Amino acid sequence: MRNFALVELGGLLFINLAPEPLPLEDQFPPGFIALLKSSAEAYDTEVIMTTWHAKFNWKLIYENLRDFNHIKYLHAKSLVKIANFPFGAADVDVAEAPLQDCSPAALRREMRTFSYGGPEGKIDPVKREPWMNMVERWGDTDAYFNWLAYPNLHIACGNGGYSFAIENHVPVSPGKTDVELFFMTARKRKSYAFSPQVLLAHMHYGKKILSEDIGMLEAVQAGLHIDAPVPTQGAYESTNRQIERWYTTLMETDHEI
Ligand SMILES: [Fe+2]
Repeated sequence: MRNFALVELGGLLFINLAPEPLPLEDQFPPGFIALLKSSAEAYDTEVIMTTWHAKFNWKLIYENLRDFNHIKYLHAKSLVKIANFPFGAADVDVAEAPLQDCSPAALRREMRTFSYGGPEGKIDPVKREPWMNMVERWGDTDAYFNWLAYPNLHIACGNGGYSFAIENHVPVSPGKTDVELFFMTARKRKSYAFSPQVLLAHMHYGKKILSEDIGMLEAVQAGLHIDAPVPTQGAYESTNRQIERWYTTLMETDHEI
């Protein structure tokens, strides 16, 4: 029988089928795991899901998610209207220099910095909907929460703890990615008749937001060719540049994690 690791964080299961599974604590920072566990314990068990078949490379979507400034531009008529997302950029581009320590322990340490979670946009105040009275809210912070789990998992909460979206990005081929999308509310206080409609409304709203991302990412992918100009990256893309430095070290040189 193969060795495998299974970690349960509230309503989330992480399964690693590798012969020597990487411990979850090596992949994600402790604060990230704690906040994810706390929120995932609030998930209800009634879930709606769908899969989008997108025409872009799976790495483009994690780069897009780590460019927080894209929200102001790409989601100007959607997400921007529900929360106040600040602009941000790193002061120092540490990715300018090559990685100093390429030992497995150091590469794992570097990888942990690519995952983070927390409140990103202040919501003032959360718009109350009737269904919110039917669920046990997670926490009491009026904010848009994001959890970015490197490399291919994104979880969001757009209403301060009343419901959650899970996005899993599955690489299919160099130019194709399946985007699996799940929605659930926070745990119900008791069953109510219109809960499937609440989840369906979440899915419709999620389609609107995700269409803005997918449309742009498919256009980027369609424009890629061997002679395409190298894009100019700004300080706001510092995390993506650090990921690229780490990824090329891992993939193009004789190093492992
Ligand atoms: Fe987006």
